[in-house]
Amino acid sequence: MGFNFMTAEEAANRIKNNDIIGFSGFTAAGCPKAITSALAEKANKEHAAGRPFQIGIFTGASTGDSIDGELARAHAVKFRSPYQSNKDMRNELNVHNIQYFDLHLSELQQYIRYGFLPRPNIAILECCDVTEDGELILTSAVGIAPTVARLADSIFIELNRFHPKELRGMHDIYEPADPPYRKEIPVYKPSDRIGVPYIKVDPKKIVGIVETNLPNEVGKFTPTDEVTERIGRNVADFLSSEIKAGRIPSSFLPVQSGVGNVANAVLGAMGLSKDIPAFEVYTEVIQDSVIQLMKENRVKFASGCSLTLSDSALEEVYGNLDVYKEKIVLRPQEISNNPEIARRLGLIAINTALEADIFGNINSTHVLGIKMMNGIGGSGDFCRNAFLSIFTTPSTAKDGKISSIVPMVSHLDHSEHSVKILITECGVADLRGLSPIQRAESIIEHCVHPEYKQLLYDYLKLGVAGHTPQHLENAFAFHNTFNKTGDMRLVEW
Ligand code: COA
Repeated sequence: MGFNFMTAEEAANRIKNNDIIGFSGFTAAGCPKAITSALAEKANKEHAAGRPFQIGIFTGASTGDSIDGELARAHAVKFRSPYQSNKDMRNELNVHNIQYFDLHLSELQQYIRYGFLPRPNIAILECCDVTEDGELILTSAVGIAPTVARLADSIFIELNRFHPKELRGMHDIYEPADPPYRKEIPVYKPSDRIGVPYIKVDPKKIVGIVETNLPNEVGKFTPTDEVTERIGRNVADFLSSEIKAGRIPSSFLPVQSGVGNVANAVLGAMGLSKDIPAFEVYTEVIQDSVIQLMKENRVKFASGCSLTLSDSALEEVYGNLDVYKEKIVLRPQEISNNPEIARRLGLIAINTALEADIFGNINSTHVLGIKMMNGIGGSGDFCRNAFLSIFTTPSTAKDGKISSIVPMVSHLDHSEHSVKILITECGVADLRGLSPIQRAESIIEHCVHPEYKQLLYDYLKLGVAGHTPQHLENAFAFHNTFNKTGDMRLVEW
């Protein structure tokens, strides 16, 4: 059969008010760009004509500006799930113009299949190749694409020539059966392939193909600074001491590393450590540092959900695809982030906190307890199930006016029961086996910034008895002081 090639505008014109769209991609990698830009324009026109036009959207995780930015600015989104990191989308959902449902990324595909969330009737997928019999080859990410492609009534494809057809073979597409028929997911080592390299759909569902040639919209990393480098070194030193103590096997364990600048710096420091052997990565987002470490033979293999790379790192991969196809596999997020696999492989999970408390609880999502930053992402998928779960954070934010370590987190994402190690640029608190009061002493001593140390010791002296000595009247005094004065250092007990 011949496919129906069309423009992005023609595709957008077939999308109706209240449609629910599932997108390919994970982070800005592998996301559609052209149809969504046209859709934002259509929304603006519809609104100008006094007609309602809003859609619901499911993505893999954050996206490029052509999805979250353009659609948010056009007020074209009714609800959205999961993780996002776009400033305009964030502003809209923080004032409730968009209803945002944040969940563990490994759960989204099954939530949709179970009927916990509405079924997307449309899928828009970025592909580098499509065959007549309906084999779709994705580009630089997988995300939720296999599930939304299967469940949607209609599929639009952005055939993006920027990505070579030879990417075929990098993806491993596998959808588990739902309970009560689910079996073990047979990934026993990061490099195991368990599925097929394509998504297979009924070609009749492909209602339109839009040809494009557009680069990914991956943002730039901030270069490492003294604080992130010290955090990275503290992580690397801690891990080498764990090898010496015999708690991590000398052959090492696969590493999951979170998103953002701190995560990039941590992997860089691990690569430099002479005590850490070349290792494998089983993670969600493959960032630049992984490619750099592969070139240096410090990373042997990487399993992930996306190639979230700068233009130069992506060029390196696409220029040497035969080599990298042997060293990288891209999986759907319910497999890359799967708790069963994280526990089986014994991952060393390293994620970044916005805020931690002295008892070891973590806030990854809400600035000062109220405003959504990005979302929980895969941090919970990994940290709860890892061999060793590490959280990192700079000890302060906003030029020292905020302590990242507070008496009580203002929002809870990961509890004391999942968090094993806390690391800042100041040092390492090993929380394993410690009671709440011991954890508090260790965190204050090793991780808190010198300007906040005495304040937090004083908090502990407020005279509360009980297993976890929280002084409820003062538990949020740091936050209240910041809200009143703009500086947590002015807190008084
Ligand atoms: N209170 C208020 N603001 C804070 C803060 C705190 N305790 N800690 C940091 N911030 C602010 C920073 O000042 C910065 O603000 P800016 O954007 O105005 O400059 C912002 O939060 C981001 O901080 P930064 O240190 O640049 O963060 P990052 O790039 O390392 O990202 C997270 C940190 C927590 C936002 C990010 O890792 C995340 O979204 N995590 C959740 C998902 C996740 O862990 N996924 C990984 C699974 S694979």
